[in-house]
Amino acid sequence: MLDILKYPDPRLKEKSVPVEVFDLELHTLLDDMATAMYHANGIGLAAPQVGKLLRLFIIDLGLQEGYTQRLYEFINPKIKHGAGSISFEEGCLSVPGVAETVKRKADIVVEYQDRHGKPQTMTTDGLLAVAIQHENDHLDGTLFVDRLSPLKRRLVQKKYKKVVSL
Ligand code: CO
Repeated sequence: MLDILKYPDPRLKEKSVPVEVFDLELHTLLDDMATAMYHANGIGLAAPQVGKLLRLFIIDLGLQEGYTQRLYEFINPKIKHGAGSISFEEGCLSVPGVAETVKRKADIVVEYQDRHGKPQTMTTDGLLAVAIQHENDHLDGTLFVDRLSPLKRRLVQKKYKKVVSL
C-alpha cells in the first residue's frame, strides 16, 4: 500500500514534472494510487501525495452523497478556462482532520491525457470541478490551506498541530 504524505512534509510543496512515458509502470502507479485513495476514504489523490512528483491525479466522487462511483484519471492536466465561482468545504488526505471552505472556479475546461497518452478534453462544474482544481494545485505544490486567508491559515495550523500531535 502506498503511503500518503502528510502536511508539513516538504515534498508536498514541490512542483511536479510532466509524464512522458505511458507504460506499465504508470498504470501500476495509477492502480496503486486508486487502492490507497479508496483505503483512506478519499475522493481524490495526486501523485505528489504519494511521493511521486508527476503531473497526474485521480478522482472518484463515489463517497459523496448523491454521486456514483466512477474513477477519473487525469495525466498532464491543464485547466484552460474557468468561470464563475463556487465555495465548497474541502478536506485533503494530506491534511487530516481539517475541513475549510475554499472558493474555486465553478465551471472549468480541462485538457489532459488518459493512461494511454490519448489527449482528452472535459468541460465540467460542481464538485468535480472543485476536486480537479484541488488536485491540480497539488501538482504545483499548493495545498488547499494555502488558499485560505492568512488569519484563517494560522488558525488552521494551530488546530492541525493539536490534531497531529494526538
Ligand atoms: Co488534497
